[in-house]
Amino acid sequence: MRVGLVGWRGMVGSVLMQRMVEENDFAHFEPYYFTTSSVGGASPSFGGKTAPALMDAKDIDALKSMDVILTCQGGDYTGEVFPKLRAAGWNGYWIDAASSLRMENDAIIVLDPVNLNVIKDGLAKGIKNYIGGNCTNSIMLMGMGGLFHAGLVDWISSMTYQAASGGGANHMRELLKGMGVIHSAVEAELATPSSAILDIDRKVAQCIREDVPTEFFGAPLAGGLIPWIDKQLDNGQSKEEWKGQAEVNKILGTASTIPVDGLCVRIGAMRCHSLALTVKLKKDLPLSEIESIIKSGNPWVKWVPNDREISVKELTPASITGKLDIGVGRVRKLNMGPEYISAFVIGDQLLWGAAEPLRRMLRLLIA
Ligand code: HSE
Repeated sequence: MRVGLVGWRGMVGSVLMQRMVEENDFAHFEPYYFTTSSVGGASPSFGGKTAPALMDAKDIDALKSMDVILTCQGGDYTGEVFPKLRAAGWNGYWIDAASSLRMENDAIIVLDPVNLNVIKDGLAKGIKNYIGGNCTNSIMLMGMGGLFHAGLVDWISSMTYQAASGGGANHMRELLKGMGVIHSAVEAELATPSSAILDIDRKVAQCIREDVPTEFFGAPLAGGLIPWIDKQLDNGQSKEEWKGQAEVNKILGTASTIPVDGLCVRIGAMRCHSLALTVKLKKDLPLSEIESIIKSGNPWVKWVPNDREISVKELTPASITGKLDIGVGRVRKLNMGPEYISAFVIGDQLLWGAAEPLRRMLRLLIA
């Protein structure tokens, strides 16, 4: 199998390459590396596999010679190249991290621990486009998949706490710069235990309003939050919020739509997205049963008992970042009634939220 890799140098692409090396994926196909900037340069040798010189990512003929193209190059690249490639008669598999093609009828959103049946159906029907889901949705479904599969979910309200990495590498840098700017503004006072906290706070507030960089987020994130992610839609939702119901139902292939809605909020975490969920179950089940259904969802669910000490230690970005674990905790019955439960789900946005479903899709094709 000839697999063309595009966008392998960016943030998601780099995480993807690292995961593919760790899982020995390169042993199973011939990699061809494409570039938009250094055609003819030396290709990397991930997994100890050599490859021909870097090929032009806009060269339709070169792309046409691939059996599979896996791209993390972004939506603009997909928008430009994908239609030309299909129009030129290419019939290979297109695996994409960008959102552009997700909701197309001839595309499947991939998250195989949750929707292997939908993916296999798609393959049997000859569908050739396999697209990674929105990170928040993938993480939520990895956590709550057991309840969905058991047909127990009536609806979900999903309030998110999304990390800087969802915006991109520049956004992560901007968050850190902002943290530094704030710290510098009050460094002297912090070093003096007797300094007045309200004076420090006043300086910090002014610094956040005036000095924290906002080039990429459009608003100061360090020391605060941003209660809007992605574009504004006419119905009052943000595009990120709209994706919740649309993508979750498409991923699951539901016959009738399960309502999913809530507010998406950017917070100052680096690469872990979290969700505070209210789940309306279709029936009143004992918590012990709910726990075993959630745990049975997939092997990556890391169940965290609803206990203070363990929750603040293990259900956090500090604990989850860089791992494939999907933390699920704070599960309890809510005052609204016996069918209403809360849950807190957290996962690494660059792993299950981006790279992991793509490499697993590739393995499904080459297995
Ligand atoms: N749209 C997501 C975010 C990341 O901004 O956090 C990509 O799924």
